[in-house]
Amino acid sequence: MIDFHSHFLPRMDDGSSSVEESLEMLRSSLEQGVEVMAATPHFYAFREDPDSFLERRAAAFAKLPLADAPHPKLLLGAEVYYFDGMSHSESLRRLTLEGTRYILIEMPFSRWSEHMVDEVLRLRDRLRLKPYLAHIERYLHAQRGTGYIDRFLQEGMLIQCNAEFFLTRSTVRKALKMLRNGQIHILGSDAHNMAERAPELGNAVSLIRSELGDRVLEDLDANGRAMLQSVLAGGNVQ
Ligand SMILES: [Fe+2]
Repeated sequence: MIDFHSHFLPRMDDGSSSVEESLEMLRSSLEQGVEVMAATPHFYAFREDPDSFLERRAAAFAKLPLADAPHPKLLLGAEVYYFDGMSHSESLRRLTLEGTRYILIEMPFSRWSEHMVDEVLRLRDRLRLKPYLAHIERYLHAQRGTGYIDRFLQEGMLIQCNAEFFLTRSTVRKALKMLRNGQIHILGSDAHNMAERAPELGNAVSLIRSELGDRVLEDLDANGRAMLQSVLAGGNVQ
């Protein structure tokens, strides 16, 4: 299984607060069956430029003593928060998931506008990027009745959801329904720490398996592997 969204880099954002915590997150993920894990620290264009972000990310990554610690294969990326004009921002090409054109986009939690949805979709034509939408479950309420999420789906945008969507009693039915209907394409832990936002993709996968069977998981896995095809084939993953 592939974790497409996590915050395990030490002291990079509001995720892991220490090298020790990062290593615990990695070990826990590996034990849960995560084979590849993407580091997607928050990137806010209004706060930081990509150069500084990439420097900090490299420094945080370098702090991890990976040679001595059990961990899944790791990929570096970013969780890019929406900003106006992003479809003209050439520098976003540097924030894709390592070795791919996929870029994780976080949208505002308030109601979107037509323009915002257009901006994200234009990333594909203008910058040749392949945006994938972070934690779909967080937007459902505010976008109800707007048709924006349907539009993303119709446009073939890839949709990620968090393990938590399946592991929360009040949302599990909705999560399974969306997965069955092909409205969720890849999973992420969105793990931030080893406390209240710990990695729990393994539990979500177990639940999906018992509720919907192996086939659905095979499809999710195939989606993820297709996205990472060039990277995994190259064998140059950490
Ligand atoms: Fe996140």
